[in-house]
Amino acid sequence: MEIRGSQVMITGCNRGIGKAVALMAAADGAHLHVVNRKSDPELLNELTNAGAASVTFYSLDLGRKENIDQFLKETQNLQIDILFNNAGLLTGGLLENQTVDEIYAMLQVNVNALIHLTHGFLPRMIAAKKGKIINHASVTGVMHFPCATTYAASKAAVIAFTDSLRVELKGTGVTTLVLVTPGIETDMYKDIPNRYGKNIDLTFMKGMPTKKYAQMIREAILEDLDVLKPQGFSGVGVLMAQHAPKLFESLVLKRFQR
Ligand SMILES: NC(=O)c1ccc[n+]([C@@H]2O[C@H](COP(=O)([O-])OP(=O)(O)OC[C@H]3O[C@@H](n4cnc5c(N)ncnc54)[C@H](OP(=O)(O)O)[C@@H]3O)[C@@H](O)[C@H]2O)c1
Repeated sequence: MEIRGSQVMITGCNRGIGKAVALMAAADGAHLHVVNRKSDPELLNELTNAGAASVTFYSLDLGRKENIDQFLKETQNLQIDILFNNAGLLTGGLLENQTVDEIYAMLQVNVNALIHLTHGFLPRMIAAKKGKIINHASVTGVMHFPCATTYAASKAAVIAFTDSLRVELKGTGVTTLVLVTPGIETDMYKDIPNRYGKNIDLTFMKGMPTKKYAQMIREAILEDLDVLKPQGFSGVGVLMAQHAPKLFESLVLKRFQR
């Protein structure tokens, strides 16, 4: 699908992968619809200077259903070509050490808000017979590490949701892309040792720069891929988790202690 001249909406793009993708789409001459918790004049300048055809800001905290209802009402006449459900929260550590409140907050952003926004924009895409929904999952949706219980559950839900939707949308002109993302150097990535490090040896961790990953997402959009899977070390991990789960488990257990 073309990015140039498209109406592209991205959630959570004030930093991290979302910002890198927003800058990439700006450089491609997209009309950007930036959905962040806070408006940011500096980001507006950055995206405009990068080449965006236009930039529109929406302030939205995805943590509350009522906010999303209100946002969808206010934007009911807006036609989006690409919706990138990117915003996300990380939880982690032994399950008994995670709080129920942080788990609910994470599931609201990672799963409920993603489905809610897709539900809101999809009918307009189907009516226009074109559009793409991009949903941000993670390798943890496939590789089920200890300490990742709740986060992994959210990302497995994103993969299942997007894959079901992909089939449901056959013939409508609307397509989906699910990102099975490996470690990318962002604030969230830096937070992994704090949450998982007490119980898992993370010396194998190696992150990719956000700009490089944004380029991979760009190619996946242009080539109309329905899934962006990791390559290299993480790619092998995904394959092993899927096809040799007992071997994967035994390797993980060597690095885990309660
Ligand atoms: N980095 C990785 O290694 C990695 C790997 C796999 C998947 N992912 C996924 O990639 C996506 C982006 O993550 P990232 O690594 O770029 O993380 P990040 O730098 O921590 O950015 C997270 C983004 O989500 C936004 N967000 C969180 N809660 C929100 C809420 N209630 N309402 C609106 N926006 C909210 C944040 O906004 P604020 O600045 O307002 O908090 C921020 O823009 C997430 O879905 C994540 O799960 C990341």
